[in-house]
Amino acid sequence: MQRTLRYAVTLCLGLCLAVCGQAHQGMWLPSLVKQLNIKDMQAKGLKLTAEDLYSVNQASLKDAVAQLGNGCTGAMVSPTGLLLTNHHCAYSYIQALSSVAHDYLTDGYCAKNQAEELPCQGLTVRFLEYMDDVTDSVLKGVDAVMDESARAALVASNTRRLVAGLEAKNPKLKYDVEPLFYGNQYFLFAYQEFTDIRLVVAPPSAIGKFGGDTDNWVWPRHTGDFSLLRVYADSGNQPADYSPANVPYRPRKSFKISTKGVKPGEFAMVYGYPGRTQQFLVSQAVAEVVNHTDPRNIGLRDQRLAVMRGYMQGNDTIRIKYASKYADVANAWKKWQGEVDGLTRNHAVEEKESLERSFSEWVKADPQRVKTYGYLLDSMAAVYSELEPLNLISSYLNQGLRGIESLDFAMSTLVRVPGLTERPTSEDLAAFQEEANEFYKDYDPRVDRELMVQMLKAYRSLIPKGSKAEIRTLDSLLSSGSVESLVDRLFATSIFTDAARCSHWLAEAQAGRVVSLADDPLLGIARALRAEYTTSIYPRSKALQDRLVPLYRLWLRGLQAMNPKALYAPDANFTLRLAYGKVEGYKPREAVVYTPTTTLDGVVEKEAMGAYDYVVPVRLWELWEKKDFGRWGENGSVPACFLASIHTTGGNSGSPTLNAKGELIGLNFDRVWEGTMSDIMFDPNRCRNIVVDIRYVLFLIDKYARAGYLVDEMGVK
Ligand code: ARG
Repeated sequence: MQRTLRYAVTLCLGLCLAVCGQAHQGMWLPSLVKQLNIKDMQAKGLKLTAEDLYSVNQASLKDAVAQLGNGCTGAMVSPTGLLLTNHHCAYSYIQALSSVAHDYLTDGYCAKNQAEELPCQGLTVRFLEYMDDVTDSVLKGVDAVMDESARAALVASNTRRLVAGLEAKNPKLKYDVEPLFYGNQYFLFAYQEFTDIRLVVAPPSAIGKFGGDTDNWVWPRHTGDFSLLRVYADSGNQPADYSPANVPYRPRKSFKISTKGVKPGEFAMVYGYPGRTQQFLVSQAVAEVVNHTDPRNIGLRDQRLAVMRGYMQGNDTIRIKYASKYADVANAWKKWQGEVDGLTRNHAVEEKESLERSFSEWVKADPQRVKTYGYLLDSMAAVYSELEPLNLISSYLNQGLRGIESLDFAMSTLVRVPGLTERPTSEDLAAFQEEANEFYKDYDPRVDRELMVQMLKAYRSLIPKGSKAEIRTLDSLLSSGSVESLVDRLFATSIFTDAARCSHWLAEAQAGRVVSLADDPLLGIARALRAEYTTSIYPRSKALQDRLVPLYRLWLRGLQAMNPKALYAPDANFTLRLAYGKVEGYKPREAVVYTPTTTLDGVVEKEAMGAYDYVVPVRLWELWEKKDFGRWGENGSVPACFLASIHTTGGNSGSPTLNAKGELIGLNFDRVWEGTMSDIMFDPNRCRNIVVDIRYVLFLIDKYARAGYLVDEMGVK
């Protein structure tokens, strides 16, 4: 009884919040804020107009938000091209610039002047020029009876025509057309893209990754997760590839920085490029995530992590080789656990079911609606049932099989150096040499052999004989002999499991004595798996997805028709969004309350706990001990991180976090794991994003890195 009542209350509240636009939920399209959100934002404290946030007629805050080529976000902070983003977003570029003699990951980096700024090869940064609703042109000629593939073809050709016309008018911009609400709407995004980006300041990893995996997705947090880059342009302020003659880019707008600090309860917003959310899943899909996909994926990663940990513990060489891989595997693993916990606690499946019941009632009340929507939920249920075995295959392939490092290496070689297996050219060999160097640098066959044994055994325990999820390649592979003997054979003969064997093969091939790879057993398995995937697994899965998309398109139209006053934000899709809420702590569980701010004191406090992930660089410790905080101190310490109730997701890393006046107060870099279900269902009580306070960033640049000149350049008073 109490249970039912609670559901009734939460559902009613959920609906009301959506209808009144009061929830913090939603990542909104900046060009529509004027129409949809501005009143609510101002009522909550925003002191700006919609034009200040987004305008095509004048410089606005959107011009200071950058999207990095690797999916992260950044903030322009000086009129001369300085760009702030997260340390973990610049990490791979810092790594690429590092060597044993110049270990910028460990020691950090600080350019003393512009001549010392280091080009980050391959990094691009783009700025949105404008966005436009192009639904009418994209859907020209599309009608209701068209099947999905005909519709997709028409949408593609309309889009090509649209973009070609724009390119003819302004070839300097890059154009993307993206569907929103499953293709009920289409938006055009026009960008200017820069390719000469240089590293200015990186903190040592002990600061930029402070807390490491222990603290990842966790509050309280003390990570100085920032890097400072600079965007360069040609003398006409236009994008240009790296050249020593390039000059700092002058952005249309850069953020004013606030050093006044943040107060619990105050308005805050995140301006950035969130990656993917799935707010509109039906109950069956959510149940699949909670009951099957996430637990299965977590279980497979559990096994892989345990194997790595086992070898890392007694062996420092392996520990260092596998540190970053382990962190990668652990990142989503931890996130999924939070997601399952959050969706369960919030009765997400029951809430969705209850919404679907209301929808069915609403449909039944009108014969016209029955005609339009009557089949919808049943059809979705049918597709989801058919999808179950394919989801299982996808879990096993992505989280299990591709966790076998040598097999993954062989599979990616097929894609990246397709010429290698037949008659490799010298370019093929050089490309493979590079791939192999990269792979074997951090490889230990003992770890991988164990991973292979466990992941192959996982196949039979997850996918019993005769199941619809069977993978033919593996069935025949595993039908003769034990997993161990198969693994022995692979490790004794393949060039993908042994660095010495691989370099011997390469040396022979480079000397013109190519030994065919046709007999390499691991490459053979990789090729068979790839063939099975492209000819059988992928087409089945794609056909089901193609049936689902139009159903979701209709589902959203139905929801909107049922709740005409409700405001829906489109799912994130790596396009520019504005999300808002306030600086706010939370209660993770009974009798525990998290306050929303941390300081440098907490950094030192954590080090005293002695964990591997908590090491404070000597210089930072000294600044703390002498209380040498310069102008960045507050109440005897330096602010470090804070929490806000703003709807964010992966991709929002490095996003400018702004106060009511649109001034920069920090950089978003994570969420709390109790709130990671926000990708599917946002709960204002528990979903929190984690931000590094701009004053910690400035303190580190000014006092730690001794680069006060950069703080002056940012115009910080
Ligand atoms: N959880 C953050 C994100 O999803 C940070 C990941 C990098 N940090 C780490 N300790 N693995 O990207």
